[in-house]
Amino acid sequence: MESKGLSRNNRENKAKPKRKEIIEKRKAMDALIKVASAEKDYLSAFPAFRHYQISGLSAFLESGRGDKLYSHVKQFIQNLLKANMEGLYGSEWPAEEKVKRREMVAPEARYVFVRNASNASSVEFLTTSEREKTSASCVEERGPIVGFVHFRFVIEEELPVLYVYELQLEPRVQGKGLGKFLMQLIELIACKNHMGAVVLTVQKANSAALNFYLCKMSLKSYQLFNIKSLVKSVTNHLWSNLGGMFFKLHIMVLYSTDLY
Ligand SMILES: CC(C)(COP(=O)(O)OP(=O)(O)OC[C@H]1O[C@@H](n2cnc3c(N)ncnc32)[C@H](O)[C@@H]1OP(=O)(O)O)[C@@H](O)C(=O)NCCC(=O)NCCS
Repeated sequence: MESKGLSRNNRENKAKPKRKEIIEKRKAMDALIKVASAEKDYLSAFPAFRHYQISGLSAFLESGRGDKLYSHVKQFIQNLLKANMEGLYGSEWPAEEKVKRREMVAPEARYVFVRNASNASSVEFLTTSEREKTSASCVEERGPIVGFVHFRFVIEEELPVLYVYELQLEPRVQGKGLGKFLMQLIELIACKNHMGAVVLTVQKANSAALNFYLCKMSLKSYQLFNIKSLVKSVTNHLWSNLGGMFFKLHIMVLYSTDLY
């Protein structure tokens, strides 16, 4: 009896710090997500990424958020998603389109938009506060949007991550290095905000995107993982080696439901 009592006490003693630790971890992660999501201009820390110039393409990038999209921007996003993704989804597209429409305007949704700067005027170089005051028509003077990344800061399997919901470029600006440029920026944004990983999903049927992520980006720092095992090892490493402090990981977790 006594030994049972002792072992129960031991279990309780052991359980207490664990529960406390879990709560502390969760609080720390929630705080990271909150701070990361509160940023108004994700490009302000990376001015070199405001502009992208190669022969035949001059583009500039700007931040946005899901609950502050102009209606013409929402329309652009929907049109581009349809143009790029409908064929891949086939008969599932109408249902998927509804989901994507909801996701597009979620308050947690963060964006980096790409504008074709060929017709851009001087307002292109506005500060963040000036940009916030800029009217929709004036914004359009800065050139049409030709692509975007939709991302969010979320907790995935007990790890704070930057989750790329969409990376979409108009066909006319594909294959010019913009996709790579945007993914480099996304990785920097994730690191600056102490995220443990960049996560995205790709349909296996999307062989062009798979090729882009696996064959091209994998040569740098991108790897294919089963997210559950990766996140477990990363989380253990984070908390055991750094006393609860997050550190910067240059890693991309690429998974699709088919991987399980
Ligand atoms: C996938 C996508 C984002 C890639 O962006 P991109 O600007 O076209 O790609 P980049 O020009 O930056 O290419 C980077 C590298 O990948 C290669 N690459 C890009 N697309 C490729 C393709 N379809 N097949 C083979 N290689 C490709 C490029 O040759 C380049 O290689 P390099 O660095 O050796 O020169 C873009 O093509 C796109 O928007 N596609 C449609 C929407 C989509 O499928 N999005 C992904 C959903 S998860």
